Amino acid sequence: MTVLIRQLHKHFVGEVTGVDVRKPLTKQEAADIEAGMDKYAVLVFHGQDITDDQQMAFALNFGEREESRGGTVAKKEDYRLSAGLNDVSNLGKDGKPLPKDHRTHLFNLGNSLWHSDSSFRPIPAKFSLLSARVVNPKGGNTEFADMRAAYDALDGDTKAEIGDMICEHSLMYSRGSLGFLDYTDEEKQMFKPVLQRLVRTHPVHGRKSLYLSSHAGAIRGMSMPEGRLLLRDLNEHATRPEFVYVHKWTVHDLVMWDNRQTMHRVRRYDQSQPRDMRRATVAGTQPTVAQEAAE
Ligand code: OGA
Ligand code: MN
Repeated sequence: MTVLIRQLHKHFVGEVTGVDVRKPLTKQEAADIEAGMDKYAVLVFHGQDITDDQQMAFALNFGEREESRGGTVAKKEDYRLSAGLNDVSNLGKDGKPLPKDHRTHLFNLGNSLWHSDSSFRPIPAKFSLLSARVVNPKGGNTEFADMRAAYDALDGDTKAEIGDMICEHSLMYSRGSLGFLDYTDEEKQMFKPVLQRLVRTHPVHGRKSLYLSSHAGAIRGMSMPEGRLLLRDLNEHATRPEFVYVHKWTVHDLVMWDNRQTMHRVRRYDQSQPRDMRRATVAGTQPTVAQEAAE
């Protein structure tokens, strides 16, 4: 089949037809989708009724699976999903919504903050592929922001000022900003800050983008308040409505995004009802900056 892509937003996002995600892709189809990702940064596939294994197999056309360890406070024995998918639902192992005060639920609420997946890892994620298995009756849209368009729209002085800045990213910063502050010693070790460039360059087409994320909590060489205020200003700029696409989910949508060129967040939804979303994550291939011990 021929891969067809129709642009949905002024700056980014393509709607894909002509692909059956359940079937192995031809080399040409995989190359067309990868090129579509480079160009549109977010791709939307409708009507893809897939299993976890099919979702993972599709993701592996674009790189290696990212190891999900280190990105959650859920204990291994409480995992609901196998096949290496990230559980982005509000459900426990029993298939019911987690209690309102459940620690995993409180931690997962952090996905409502604008972020880029795995920016808290030394080698952050390349692509994420999110499959809607059960759509929540109220709310739960996912919003995406184009960080290339946001970068392009900065004035020249700001571009020069931030061009070589390095940020510290940690899950403790994003969750801490919501008041989630208690971590075990093991979690503190696991969530140690990593370093990321504030401006990154796409490896294929060379466009620059702002590499922002709720996980960013400090800028090297700046005081904490000064760094956080600059990050806040940049986030405010980058998530202006003109840079944002709102995805309203239909069951069996599959949405794929490039974490190197976009941010995303989920909006509030009815936590008493299920929302079953499952994510396959494609690993990045290199750090954005050499890591040194972040003290
Ligand atoms: C994710 C994520 C948002 C959502 O899967 O990485 O942030 O809509 N999900 O569930
Ligand atoms: Mn995410």
